[in-house]
Amino acid sequence: MIGVLLLFLLFLLYIAAPQIRQMLSSGVCTSTTQLPGKVAVVTGANSGIGKETAKELAQRGARVYIACRDVQKGELVAKEIQTMTGNQEVLVRKLDLADTKSIRTFAKDFLAEEKHLHILINNAGVMMCPYSKTADGFEMHIGVNHLGHFLLTHLLLEKLKESAPSRIVNVSSLAHHLGRIHFHDLQGQKFYSAGLAYCHSKLANILFTRELARRLKGSGVTAYSLHPGTVNSELVRHSSFMRCLWRLFFFFIKTPQQGAQTSLYCALTEGLENLSGNHFSDCHVTWVSAQARNETIARRLWDVSCDLLGIPMD
Ligand SMILES: *[C@@H]1O[C@H](CO)[C@@H](O)[C@H](O)[C@H]1NC(C)=O
Ligand SMILES: *[C@@H]1O[C@H](CO)[C@@H](O)[C@H](O)[C@H]1NC(C)=O
Ligand SMILES: *[C@@H]1O[C@H](CO)[C@@H](O)[C@H](O)[C@H]1NC(C)=O
Repeated sequence: MIGVLLLFLLFLLYIAAPQIRQMLSSGVCTSTTQLPGKVAVVTGANSGIGKETAKELAQRGARVYIACRDVQKGELVAKEIQTMTGNQEVLVRKLDLADTKSIRTFAKDFLAEEKHLHILINNAGVMMCPYSKTADGFEMHIGVNHLGHFLLTHLLLEKLKESAPSRIVNVSSLAHHLGRIHFHDLQGQKFYSAGLAYCHSKLANILFTRELARRLKGSGVTAYSLHPGTVNSELVRHSSFMRCLWRLFFFFIKTPQQGAQTSLYCALTEGLENLSGNHFSDCHVTWVSAQARNETIARRLWDVSCDLLGIPMD
């Protein structure tokens, strides 16, 4: 346990380093793309990076769906965004990524209600929660961060294809470097560390982005994953240890608005299509771990995920 904590501490120092560079040459989305008539869905948009991302998309004229678990909180945020941007088309829909029933209901209603979907931002996430399970019995990190978004993306994919050019943006993390896909223990029943479970799920996000990009070649739908930076957000709500560290390193930590820049960059920048499948940080393509580049693992994870969710493999 101590070993894991120390490792995590080292790892945090390691992720803090790029922030110093970031202070000097800040990653900012400079795209001037406007989005009138475009439709965007942002998961977990009722706080942090998701909220800032939704706000900027609304500012540029898109109709934005805030998909979140806490609808009341979502409505307050929607009001705030409407007031700030003058864009009234900011809508709140209930989506609990820890429950496939909720995901299916969200998708069904959305598909019935909307003709198009141009931008899907898979932003919601949990980090370092104590061992717990989703409504469907998946371990929480892999269940919400990976499987939940996998199902959501799957259900919305036809709509994205019909609306091409369209984009899917996945918020992953540098933490994926510590992640491994343990196919024999995907649900962490044999060994569980909250920190590592997060890393595993973020590795899964990158593997999926690459596999999805491969499968979507030529469809006009492109997919990107990214590291938003070390951001002050509610993500650390489950860990007092992390909250302490966050306080200790506050000067390295980005604001949610700075953290949203790379999501926006991937969603908006013109001519990014030929970089589909890549991983971005500070608005640049960046390297991922060998695990994250392994196509065998990506394909196997894809199949296992389909299997777990009971969806057809192709
Ligand atoms: C995003 O991540 C989820 C979960 O790993 C995956 O199912 C989905 O295909 C990914 N989408 C993109 C665009 O990477
Ligand atoms: C992608 O396209 C842009 C121009 O549209 C070009 O500048 C860039 O070199 C291309 N990148 C790759 C990896 O092909
Ligand atoms: C991919 O991962 C598999 C299983 O861990 C491994 O056997 C294989 O050598 C890896 N491939 C590459 C190119 O790293």
